Amino acid sequence: MENRICDLPDDLLLLILILVPTKVAVTTTILSKRWRFVSKMLRLLEFNDDGNEKLGWFIDQSLQLHKAPKLRSLIVELGPSCTVDVDVGKWIEYAVNRGVYVLDFKLLWTAKPTSFPKSLYTCDTIVDLSLSNEIFVDVSSQARLPSLLRLSLLHVVYKDEDSLVRLLSSSPILNNLTVERHEEDNLTNFTVKVPSLQILYYVTTWRNKDGDDDRLTGSLVIDAPALTKFDIIDVWDYYCLIENMPCLVEAYIGFVPNPNDKFLRNLVSVRHLLLCLTEPMVECCTATKFSWLIEFYFRPEESVDWLDSLMFLLQNSPKLKTLMIKTEPQSIAPSWNQPNSIPGCLSSNLEIFGWVDYGGREDEKQLVTYILANAECLKKVEISFLDTSNLEEKQKELQSSPRISSSCQLLFPTQVEWDFS
Ligand SMILES: *[C@@H]1O[C@H](CO)[C@@H](O)[C@H](O)[C@H]1NC(C)=O
Ligand SMILES: *[C@@H]1O[C@H](CO)[C@@H](O)[C@H](O)[C@H]1NC(C)=O
Ligand SMILES: *[C@@H]1O[C@H](CO)[C@@H](O)[C@H](O)[C@H]1NC(C)=O
Repeated sequence: MENRICDLPDDLLLLILILVPTKVAVTTTILSKRWRFVSKMLRLLEFNDDGNEKLGWFIDQSLQLHKAPKLRSLIVELGPSCTVDVDVGKWIEYAVNRGVYVLDFKLLWTAKPTSFPKSLYTCDTIVDLSLSNEIFVDVSSQARLPSLLRLSLLHVVYKDEDSLVRLLSSSPILNNLTVERHEEDNLTNFTVKVPSLQILYYVTTWRNKDGDDDRLTGSLVIDAPALTKFDIIDVWDYYCLIENMPCLVEAYIGFVPNPNDKFLRNLVSVRHLLLCLTEPMVECCTATKFSWLIEFYFRPEESVDWLDSLMFLLQNSPKLKTLMIKTEPQSIAPSWNQPNSIPGCLSSNLEIFGWVDYGGREDEKQLVTYILANAECLKKVEISFLDTSNLEEKQKELQSSPRISSSCQLLFPTQVEWDFS
């Protein structure tokens, strides 16, 4: 059996080894000389934390024995139990010298944030770069990553703002940026100025939050005119300045403190929008026209009186087909004001309306009744109740309110599907 496998050509053996974890592939070297040769030629190396404290040493050995002239990808994850006595920079150097495309380092070990060699930031071949956790991003001289398409910076620490700026301006074709920050990353201002960027995912988190101080002073500046997809969850109460995004198609505004007029105005081209409302935005909802919006997911925070903002937004979203609302259990009672005119989307487009955790209070009922009575194209309404006491009675009450769309189904699932793409 062993001989039969050993008779296979090198290329096929390599393909087989690519299918097993790198650690297993490298371990085959003890089977026979034949395997030893093949495993040295692997072009995709992936070492994931398996709780073994010697993993770093193992990677070191594997790279010393490795002989392939080219390395396509090097993926390394060092876990908390890993000993810290290895030189990770040497591995980076090795990969860069072999024309690596994909470099993904996740250092979850107990060492202090590690700087990587300068050659990383001037590598011609890297397409995909992901740096995660105990990594010190120190880009002191001009970076040049001409092939870089995707960059992820996850919970790293930066030497300074210039390092970030140099890294982000290193590639003329960078189109996908993922950023996750913790509050000890040594930056005050975070500036994303990337003309080619199409996808931006930006999330802030707390690593050591103590006390009630949930504000950090600093700013987020985004100047990315080619952006089509934008996800942001900023829990730090940062000052957020966003320059125009005329191509934006999809936005997930998970949490933006103090969103101002200008912020919302930058979203005018979106087709798909998820918005967590942190304060009423009546003025900007009145002033901003969402001519393209077809899908709107809406999550008001519990302390926000949101109904007016929503109604103004509906007035300004003539193409809206899907409206989903999710209210918080403790949310304050919204106040209903009958709109002066029926929003255009109700007369001609709205087909799906859903409400997660519908409280059933008087003004909430008014909204549902209004939509049922005025949405002429409505096909499906799904409502899940927050409080399920007297459920049948509450359902009957809604069932009996007049519907203008004769083909409209009214459903009461226990859970309304919340699947903003
Ligand atoms: C943090 O930032 C300061 C300047 O703002 C810089 O001098 C220092 O080297 C940075 N590094 C660390 C580890 O804090
Ligand atoms: C953007 O990059 C992230 C992180 O690498 C990845 O998960 C996501 O799928 C990418 N998006 C696209 C559309 O390529
Ligand atoms: C951050 O930006 C503000 C406003 O532009 C500026 O005053 C401040 O000096 C910046 N901070 C750093 C550390 O560069």
